[in-house]
Amino acid sequence: MKSLEIRKKFLDFFNKNGHTIVASSSLIPAQDPTLLFINAGMNQFKDLFLGNEKRNYVRATTIQKCIRAGGKHNDLDQVGFTKRHLTFFEMMGNFSFGDYFKEDAIRFAWDFLTKEMELPQDKLYPTVFREDDEAFNIWNKVIGVPASKIGRLDEKDNFWQMGDTGPCGPCTEIYYDRGPQEGCGSKDCKPGCSCDRFLEIWNLVFMQYDRQSSGELVPLKQTGVDTGMGLERLCVIKQGKDSVFEIDLFQDIIMQIEQLTGLKYSEQNAAKKAAFHVLSDHVRSSCFALADGCTPANEGRGYVLRKIIRRAALFEQKLTNSSIFPKLAGALIESMQDIYPELATSKEYITSVLSHEIDKFATNLVRGQAILEKYFSEN
Ligand code: GLY
Repeated sequence: MKSLEIRKKFLDFFNKNGHTIVASSSLIPAQDPTLLFINAGMNQFKDLFLGNEKRNYVRATTIQKCIRAGGKHNDLDQVGFTKRHLTFFEMMGNFSFGDYFKEDAIRFAWDFLTKEMELPQDKLYPTVFREDDEAFNIWNKVIGVPASKIGRLDEKDNFWQMGDTGPCGPCTEIYYDRGPQEGCGSKDCKPGCSCDRFLEIWNLVFMQYDRQSSGELVPLKQTGVDTGMGLERLCVIKQGKDSVFEIDLFQDIIMQIEQLTGLKYSEQNAAKKAAFHVLSDHVRSSCFALADGCTPANEGRGYVLRKIIRRAALFEQKLTNSSIFPKLAGALIESMQDIYPELATSKEYITSVLSHEIDKFATNLVRGQAILEKYFSEN
């Protein structure tokens, strides 16, 4: 199933169930100094969860552009080396602001996965927060998942918050079992293991608290639901692929790298494949961040963007001696501009900033290398 069809089915399903379809917000948080980049679908609804704002809907659904590099949720160093981590991804979510809570949230997720996406029930493994018996019982008694398949995980996995402060709560996650051949081989391998066997696809957060800077959890005026499912991860399953880098959303960029380097992705060793992954992920995060108005800088989110571009430049050297990274922007923009027209509007700007950053970094590298060599020869 193509990503386009998954997008449509997701929004249609929740719209049919009373959710207003809301557009993705910009990646640059509006008036929220606690965040570098938008890192989840719920960010644009923070004030609704806190009860500081009301809108003419209490249920919403979105497909949100997210960047997880820098800040509380930071996957930058893992990107390239796992089959599932990305700095830029699209998060599909449904939200309730003082409306439905645990049972409906779980029921919606189960129905979408098993009926709309037709995923086999026996491959799905839910986990709940350690002491959340209510969620456990909904999975077990209402949905009918055997108790032996429901895991209990602690704060690290099953208590979610967008940053150090703000709305948060216990969550229940749904994992997809990709089979023992994908696993680490440990007898303890289960949902929550860091290997690639159990792929976390959906996180349902039961918003209950407002975390203060002191760490205190203040109950929210109303409970809510905030869910997040990675579009790219669902594509891995629905397209029968081995990793996010093989799904349709990455195809054009990978092909462009192949053309520019003369190297065939499928024939490369792990180190070279990692370079393909880094370049194809980082061109997505860089282009989307630039299109939303972020510029490379020496601090804040601009520094994170500069780090992403420089990381791409370093990995590029594993594949070629020429500077191909800025050229990849064209393939990315071409393949996603129908969904995100802001990419096409900023095309020239994006390409020129990427070229300038890479050139500047290359000059620094050459200068740095000369200093290092001089030091080595003298010492
Ligand atoms: N807000 C839920 C998640 O990002 O997983």
